[in-house]
Amino acid sequence: MISMIWAMDENWLIGKDNKLPWHYPSDLKYFKDQTKDQSVLMGEMTYQSLKSYYVKKPLPFKKVYVANVEDKIYSDAIHVKDLFTFLNSTKEDIMIIGGKTIYKLCLPYANKLYITYILKTHEGNVFFPKFDLNQFNLTNYRTDEGLIFAVYERDAL
Ligand SMILES: NC(=O)c1ccc[n+]([C@@H]2O[C@H](COP(=O)([O-])OP(=O)(O)OC[C@H]3O[C@@H](n4cnc5c(N)ncnc54)[C@H](OP(=O)(O)O)[C@@H]3O)[C@@H](O)[C@H]2O)c1
Repeated sequence: MISMIWAMDENWLIGKDNKLPWHYPSDLKYFKDQTKDQSVLMGEMTYQSLKSYYVKKPLPFKKVYVANVEDKIYSDAIHVKDLFTFLNSTKEDIMIIGGKTIYKLCLPYANKLYITYILKTHEGNVFFPKFDLNQFNLTNYRTDEGLIFAVYERDAL
């Protein structure tokens, strides 16, 4: 199963200068709870961003895949050069954790979305690519600290 997780504001903003534009402890906890012990896939930019927070600690995932079209060797991650071959052939449950480019490329393969809605607007320069959420069914919904944590699913593609 391919899942995706992200947080966005009312304008679908997700990033600012390769960092999150906000700090919401309840969303960070939610992200950690959903991704702990999971195999995750992210793009090079998001990997660099996460590494700036985890300078001395290992990334808190079971297995880390990093998509990058350049040839690259990572000490703590598996390089995915051919993203579509990977998505079409993997037998693992994969959680896609960003950023914008990788979300856009992976969305057609996703069966499950974990979206945190931030009910205000922030400053930033990276937006989630617009798509039709009606392709998915809402299967879970809760609010916390002014955030909405929603889960959507659709049948395997
Ligand atoms: N709000 C949230 O939940 C959330 C979550 C994660 C990230 N973000 C934000 O998203 C932003 C980063 O997004 P981004 O779009 O700049 O970067 P990104 O998606 O993290 O990384 C893009 C990378 O994808 C690689 N790539 C592109 N096409 C590919 C393909 N077909 N196969 C394999 N690799 C491919 C590119 O490689 P090359 O460099 O070689 O071209 C590039 O390095 C940051 O601001 C971050 O904070 C927000």
